[in-house]
Amino acid sequence: MTPRPERHVLVCTNQRPDGPDAMPSCGANGSTEVLSAFLRERAAAGSMRSIYITQCLCLGVCPERGATVVIYPEGTWYVGVEAQDVAEICREHVVGGRAVDRLVDCRYR
Ligand code: FES
Repeated sequence: MTPRPERHVLVCTNQRPDGPDAMPSCGANGSTEVLSAFLRERAAAGSMRSIYITQCLCLGVCPERGATVVIYPEGTWYVGVEAQDVAEICREHVVGGRAVDRLVDCRYR
């Protein structure tokens, strides 16, 4: 049986079609780079082997910049995550268990 993951990271990679009335989407804001950064951090750190990383479609908050990322089991929502934020999120939250407050969406604390 597969062991339960220590943490599960969901990264929205939803991409909406371009257009003058298009809503923002994580895919248009570089979320594939965010997803790649999480995968690279996991590959580089043996301590993150029990971390699941899953790309998903729209989570409903659709930021103007960056991507939406949710981390379980805490259920912490990060909004506006950019690739350069991922190392800090991994070090502080995924490994250390402490949310990165400056990126947490206050609606989902
Ligand atoms: S497009 Fe990512 S949260 Fe909606």
